[in-house]
Amino acid sequence: MNDNYAQVTEVGLRDGLQMVKTILSADQKLEWCRRMVAAGCTNIEVTSFVPPKIVPQFADSDEVARGALKINGLHASALVPNLKGAQRAFDTGLKKVHYVLSASNEHNLKNVRRSTAESVDDFSNIVAARDETGHRDIKLGAGLATAFGCTIAGQVDEAHVLKIVETLLKAGADQIAIADTVGYANPGQVKKLMRRVLALTGDIPVTCHFHDTRGLGLANVFAALDAGVRSFDSSLGGLGGCPFAPNATGNINTEDTVFLLESEGIRTGININALLSIRELVASWLVGEPFVGAIARAGLPKTFAEADAGNALA
Ligand code: COA
Ligand code: ZN
Repeated sequence: MNDNYAQVTEVGLRDGLQMVKTILSADQKLEWCRRMVAAGCTNIEVTSFVPPKIVPQFADSDEVARGALKINGLHASALVPNLKGAQRAFDTGLKKVHYVLSASNEHNLKNVRRSTAESVDDFSNIVAARDETGHRDIKLGAGLATAFGCTIAGQVDEAHVLKIVETLLKAGADQIAIADTVGYANPGQVKKLMRRVLALTGDIPVTCHFHDTRGLGLANVFAALDAGVRSFDSSLGGLGGCPFAPNATGNINTEDTVFLLESEGIRTGININALLSIRELVASWLVGEPFVGAIARAGLPKTFAEADAGNALA
């Protein structure tokens, strides 16, 4: 991957919406996607294939996934917690499916009601199910939640994380995501772990998924960049959090993340002013939900020059 390019994946429609009370319509979700693509953000995790009784926001996941596939230029992905979710995602025709499990056994039990070992084993069944569809071009990502610590279990051992990553790679993961689900990570820890993860993954893309729960979200992005990571999840207005992790708060904010990356001369292809207007629209749909972010509050500095020349035009 080009060292001066970073992929920013919008996860507000998944991680963001799973915490909010207001249920958006599929049309609103797809409008959000269309506008993100127009703003240059072409990678979006559009939904989650979980039982509607667990997260009612995603009762429309089939409709949203199928609608997203019709949006030109959009690389849509979805989160799945188990084989059943993966099969539902494959049926929609999605080409990117992200499986989630937790490094912390305690969080995994709470989040997906089985042990980490069982979740790791199930990934092989998902790979086999993907192969059975005949669509080997469906990319199967594996995301490791609570990789930097857990609100229930506390410490999560680095060697344990690396061992799970190795097993997922052997099982056929096309992408690895390392997530700080509860905002425990600090930059030194990120640099250390991500260097070791990248040493294992070779050509397999690696994404960092940070939450800003304790204010270190963007510092962790910077540390991950330093380690060589060039792919980040973020959510518009910093919406989000895991409903199954105590005191979880939002993801790192997309506008601020793009600002940091572009300021560092790393191209994202995303227009920050366009993001700010999408944020206003989405905030008008989600009355009372917390939207955070420094650029939305203070504006871009006059001295800001986007790494991407195209960004300055819109
Ligand atoms: N989508 C839709 N329905 C599903 C499903 C899925 N992904 N997985 C299971 N089900 C259905 C089963 O068919 C079964 O239905 P039935 O009662 O009509 O027979 C029922 O749900 C229970 O299935 P089971 O396999 O026993 O699941 P569970 O109750 O142990 O729950 C998960 C396991 C993974 C489905 C649930 O814990 C979950 O959705 N967790 C995700 C939480 C989340 O979104 N976290 C935030 C993201 S990190
Ligand atoms: Zn998250």
